[in-house]
Amino acid sequence: MDAVPPVSDPALFRPLTLRGVTIPNRVGVSPMCMYSSTDGAVTDFHLVHLGRFALGGAGLVVMEATAVTPAGRISPRDAGLWSDDHLPGLRRIAGVLTEQGSVPGIQLGHAGRRAAVTEPWHGGQPLVWSETEPGREPWALQAPSAAPAGPEWPTPRALSESELTASLDLWAAAARRASEAGFRFLELHGAHGYLLHSFLSPLSNHRSDAYGGTPEARMRYPLEVVRAVRASLPAETALSYRVSTVDGIDGGLTLDDTVVFAERLAEAGVDIIDTSSGGITTDRSVDTRVRRGFAFHADFSRAVRERVGIPTATVGLIVDPQQADALIDHGDADLVLLGRTALDDPNWPNRARHVLGAVDPTADPRFESYLTPWRAGIERLLARGESPLSRFEIDAPEEVTGLP
Ligand SMILES: Cc1cc2nc3c(=O)[nH]c(=O)nc-3n(C[C@H](O)[C@H](O)[C@H](O)COP(=O)(O)O)c2cc1C
Repeated sequence: MDAVPPVSDPALFRPLTLRGVTIPNRVGVSPMCMYSSTDGAVTDFHLVHLGRFALGGAGLVVMEATAVTPAGRISPRDAGLWSDDHLPGLRRIAGVLTEQGSVPGIQLGHAGRRAAVTEPWHGGQPLVWSETEPGREPWALQAPSAAPAGPEWPTPRALSESELTASLDLWAAAARRASEAGFRFLELHGAHGYLLHSFLSPLSNHRSDAYGGTPEARMRYPLEVVRAVRASLPAETALSYRVSTVDGIDGGLTLDDTVVFAERLAEAGVDIIDTSSGGITTDRSVDTRVRRGFAFHADFSRAVRERVGIPTATVGLIVDPQQADALIDHGDADLVLLGRTALDDPNWPNRARHVLGAVDPTADPRFESYLTPWRAGIERLLARGESPLSRFEIDAPEEVTGLP
């Protein structure tokens, strides 16, 4: 057991209100693609997978990047929201998350020139035509410019101005469906080299029309998407935008660019900026300079939060309860998001509550009423010098174990 002096009101377990949504604590589960849907429809796997995060105490659970159109899927097995057929599965997920005390969130995305790849465990490489694997055929890629994501990646087709205007309806319709399914926190995936990021970054947008050529023009499509989505959401729904705060490549997006963009996002109705980084190229020979240590995006989050005056989320190698609490307490971010940390331990928020000594009325008594005396019992055993490995020597009385 981690021995930390308890504080009754740690910053990590204070609620956060964004628009009409109150997240009961500052721990969210970051969107993570599971590549486990069929024709965009989620399954019971997603229900259980996401449900465990809610039972684990996360205040917010954000479902994976969910495609607004089939062409915008990363892989053939991405989740989607381009059809009403996707609603029943998503409704169950939003319902279970809500019932278990978490705010149900979902990320909407379009993979742009990085679409049509295999699952990461099959290499994450462009799909190739195979007569033996029906349903896994590659499809045409869409992007701001006919520039591939990297060497040996397919060249996308540049979307026309009229296609861009028409596509706003896809985003708006997907957002409407997300609300209808019960999601109250919606994030737009504007990072990692996908469609919205590829419009913003000068490394992937080589247009000279109204959607490229100047920083203002490169912001245009993402901002149009934000406005279309905001207009289709209930007033109380919280809207997040995930940015790649920097490209980390010469000539790419910088923190200063992101600060300007974040100001525009705030004006367009975004409530929180989720500060990630990178992904504009798949070329591994390009040197991308983003530090990858513990809480590696926290400086970006802090800078955007302070310079724009908007709530931010930070993500990336946040692994320790005190680390997470300090990020909130010191003003680096308003929300911490856990990716692999949550996969590794879906119960992380409940454990963090204990480690930090939080007195939290939102803790689930069905677990805590057993676990609080159990933890105290374990600490007493350890204090007596006993070890879990000395099982044959232990003769612990009831008042120590908390069990009859
Ligand atoms: C399995 C997996 C799937 C992911 N899918 C998404 C995604 O759908 N959308 C997204 O914005 N980021 C995605 N990410 C990135 C995570 O949300 C997160 O930003 C990243 O893993 C860093 O946080 P961590 O160090 O806590 O894992 C994914 C990461 C993992 C590990």
